[in-house]
Amino acid sequence: MTIDLAPFQKLIKQRCGLILEGIGEEKLATVLAQRITVTRLGNSAEYYFHLQGSSDEFQDLVNLLTINETYFFREVEQLHLLTERLVPRLLMQREDNQPLRILSAGCSTGEEPYSLVMALREKYGDDVPRLFSFTGGDIDTQALAKARSGRYNEFSFRGVAAAIKARYFDQDGWAYHLKDEIRNRVEFHEMNLFAEEFPAALHGYDIIFFRNVSIYFDTPTRRIIQQNLASLLNDNGYLMIGTAETIANDLGVLPLVEEDGLFYFSKGQHSAFVPAAAPVFDLSRHVVAKVAAPDHHENLPDVRSVLSPVVPSLPIAECVEPTVALPDPCFSIDEVQQQCRAKRYDEAMAMIVVLLERNPGDTSSLLLKAHIQLNRKEFELAEASARQALQTDPWSIDALVLLGLAAKWRELIGEAVRWFKQAVYARHECWLARYYLADLYRAGGEPDKARREYRGVLQLLSQSTVPDNGIRVLPLGVVHSELRFLCTHQLAKLGDQQRMAGRK
Ligand SMILES: C[S@@+](CC[C@H](N)C(=O)[O-])C[C@H]1O[C@@H](n2cnc3c(N)ncnc32)[C@H](O)[C@@H]1O
Repeated sequence: MTIDLAPFQKLIKQRCGLILEGIGEEKLATVLAQRITVTRLGNSAEYYFHLQGSSDEFQDLVNLLTINETYFFREVEQLHLLTERLVPRLLMQREDNQPLRILSAGCSTGEEPYSLVMALREKYGDDVPRLFSFTGGDIDTQALAKARSGRYNEFSFRGVAAAIKARYFDQDGWAYHLKDEIRNRVEFHEMNLFAEEFPAALHGYDIIFFRNVSIYFDTPTRRIIQQNLASLLNDNGYLMIGTAETIANDLGVLPLVEEDGLFYFSKGQHSAFVPAAAPVFDLSRHVVAKVAAPDHHENLPDVRSVLSPVVPSLPIAECVEPTVALPDPCFSIDEVQQQCRAKRYDEAMAMIVVLLERNPGDTSSLLLKAHIQLNRKEFELAEASARQALQTDPWSIDALVLLGLAAKWRELIGEAVRWFKQAVYARHECWLARYYLADLYRAGGEPDKARREYRGVLQLLSQSTVPDNGIRVLPLGVVHSELRFLCTHQLAKLGDQQRMAGRK
């Protein structure tokens, strides 16, 4: 069944901001075919008509289109910033003794808001219900149902310390049940972040976590959503966005602040903490205020001293460790590559988290992380990881090729060509980059350039010893004979087209 996707893409973008282009189209086509069959509406025009008028059907469709990837204690360093800096500061500023309100916007199946509860429970013990209230909001009603159930499996624990698991979960075979003391702390709400207005109950937050959601929106949509989130924040509140997404979200809606090497957006508060001579620097063209990290706490009494005694706590960083899924804590990068080749991305990612914790700038780990993100279609995250790798190794062919692929998938053709060209400048024998360049030229209607590159690839791959193309880490699994076949095939097609054009 061929479906004209355009009206569906438009409707979905209008209602919830999701962009389903490029690779997202494949998923949309599959899901639409499925819904047309289930609803027995016969064809896509009838289904479209039905969809427009039925909010239940729209919900069912959206539930199938969202990407719910999440896990406990994701980006643990941001949780550390929360518990050690942001929360103590807000608690001290509180005038009304009301609980601080924390929202996980785009909470998926609940791992994020529950991690916030656990992290704060580790620090504030039994005072958590008195000090904080937590909300999880998501557009996906099925994900919310799972969040409310508090039942998880091993995949949600990529690196959670055994002590945390034992303290907050009851294990039942493969399932882990979150204990009620944590589960009951979070209220879940259906919430479309792209909505024009929000119920009163969803206003007045002190901290909003909005992580790994913005990657599914274009820039104008991101701006609208960030304006919405800003309107839900109290004055002096904080908006926390995933580390790799921050630059793409620095849209001038809220000022970006750096503290302890991490970034967040602040609704006005940061200025109070910027000392007169604070360094101010430019990131992605926006001026960023840098909070003097160590000593603005000096005058703050330790919040814990005014609280009841807490349970023996773990520093947040120690809440994560290799999970049982990891075969061996001393694994090598080769083993991570093997997992990637077998497409066991969750396992590979869990290993990478550990490797990067030990050595945050490790180029190979960053490259494999980018490779996995690319395969998961998390293009902007992949780009961010590859750029990080490029910072430590500016000549990394792997990073240049990854950046080219991330641009190619997003149909940023000019950008993709630039990255692949850079790879070829850095290593003339990089036949892989030349092959991608040839494909881009061919698709872009530049047959002469395409022919030149295909011939170049063939020439390199026909040598008795195929030259090293400079790829060191990426498990791309390209078979020389297949690539030779593809080049020959494309050259033949380009030759035919040339002959036909000559005859006209
Ligand atoms: C990849 S998950 C992120 C989960 C969690 N924040 C994290 O970082 O692990 C993205 C979530 O955003 C939700 N989402 C997408 N568009 C949304 C919208 N317009 N309003 C609310 N939630 C949305 C999806 O349903 C999905 O559960």
